[in-house]
Amino acid sequence: MAPSPPTAVADVGPERPRRLRSSRALRDLVAEVDVRPSRLVMPLFVAGRAQPAPAGLPALARRTVEGTVAEVGRLADRGVRAVLLFGVPARKTPDGRAAWDPRGPVPTAIRALKGADPNLVVLADVCLCEYTDHGHCGVVVDGRVDNDRTLPLLARTARTYAEAGADLVAPSAMMDHQVAAIRTDLDRAGRTEVGIVAYAAKYASSFYGPFRDAAGSAPSFGDRRSYQMDPRNRTEARRELRADVAEGADVLLIKPALPCLDVIADARAAFDVPIAAYQVSGEYAMLRSAAEARRLVEADAVRETLSAIHRAGASFVVTYFAGDLAGGPGAAP
Ligand code: PBG
Repeated sequence: MAPSPPTAVADVGPERPRRLRSSRALRDLVAEVDVRPSRLVMPLFVAGRAQPAPAGLPALARRTVEGTVAEVGRLADRGVRAVLLFGVPARKTPDGRAAWDPRGPVPTAIRALKGADPNLVVLADVCLCEYTDHGHCGVVVDGRVDNDRTLPLLARTARTYAEAGADLVAPSAMMDHQVAAIRTDLDRAGRTEVGIVAYAAKYASSFYGPFRDAAGSAPSFGDRRSYQMDPRNRTEARRELRADVAEGADVLLIKPALPCLDVIADARAAFDVPIAAYQVSGEYAMLRSAAEARRLVEADAVRETLSAIHRAGASFVVTYFAGDLAGGPGAAP
């Protein structure tokens, strides 16, 4: 059969998007986002005693301070220059006091990591749920998490991490006014240079399960719906974000990531601070399980999800895949 006559430009217009897809080099040239290790943050769990990761989820291991320093060396070789630290204390109490113990796992790890490499970017998660015996993110009074009694404890915890040398503190408790409480306390203590990555829109998500096992932070009663956001809400996220900017947040973090691409895009459009997203433990587990069952190719699927999160507007992504990205520093997708 003879080929049909070429379509006249006058009929359809000059657009032929396929012109820019003809080779890998050309596609790379016009790509709108790149997934690079320098834009990723690796979460790490520090404990007094190491504990192997659950089957199939190697990034959820608990490490000692020495093990953490070794792991960060391996990450640096792969181009990852930022970590987010969580602590698993030896003892949990009703008020979570181990959170602000300067000899606890997180401050000790911060000092060791900064001693080994002052240029490493160290973020420290600020929350009480890993430290309280009931597993809630704040102080419980009469069966309820008390917002205002929790604020000074979060501030004290953040200050402890700042004094140990953290570059950024990341409050994740979803208490109202937590950013203001932390900023005021840091400034009073002369820590004006330490920044706040606010978990501004953090949803009460079913994707945190594997993390809670790794950190031993599952609530012993109830759930987190009285303080974390309802996944049905989009406009409410804007109120949370606006409040955190007004209270002094340097970066707005949204979590989980893939279920929240609309919220990330809204945040990018509405605010002029960097936007970050957290691809959480359940997202990690979902991709790992599908890859293990050979239902998808892990490296490709991971790059696609990270591209989508960047495309939505995230400047950087906290992800358990940070250390797995092949290619090292500055690698093209
Ligand atoms: C602490 C905190 C949680 C996560 C990050 N910080 C757990 C929670 O809110 O229950 C979850 C991270 C993940 O699932 O990877 N509040």
